[in-house]
Amino acid sequence: TNRTFTMIKPDAVADGFTGPIIQQIEAAGFKIIALKKVQLSSEEAGKFYAVHAERPFFQSLCDYMCSGAIIPLVLEKENAVEDFRQLIGATNPAQAAEGTIRKQFARSLESNAIHGSDSDENAAIEGAFFFTEKELA
Ligand code: GTP
Ligand code: MG
Repeated sequence: TNRTFTMIKPDAVADGFTGPIIQQIEAAGFKIIALKKVQLSSEEAGKFYAVHAERPFFQSLCDYMCSGAIIPLVLEKENAVEDFRQLIGATNPAQAAEGTIRKQFARSLESNAIHGSDSDENAAIEGAFFFTEKELA
């Protein structure tokens, strides 16, 4: 098995979808390794999404990501990274497949309910951004 990193984003936490989203994640066969609730500072949001620093939507994305609480989780499953991106659906919920988490729970392209790591390497980096080695043991 391997691991992926996810966070339930501020729109979905505020909309009361934390429970239903975690239920779907577990029903899809992912095991929760670590979980917490935090609010990012603007600086932390910028650090997490540093790869998008040159994009026109970067400031808006950082404002959104620190606008309320988020729920970061580390998950474990066979083929975790790829399967999790399937489960959450396309970045833009308007283009996300029926039954995916973004299709069901996201508000918009930016406020799209949930994050999923795009590689094993980034999953490890992003997990370590939020959790200690001990919490991930
Ligand atoms: P993450 O799992 O959150 O990384 O999403 P992704 O991998 O599907 O998309 P990407 O990494 O390209 O973009 C990161 C996040 O930036 C997205 O999840 C959206 O919240 C936001 N985003 C992406 N594209 C746009 C855009 O064109 N406009 C705005 N306002 N936000 C965007
Ligand atoms: Mg991404």
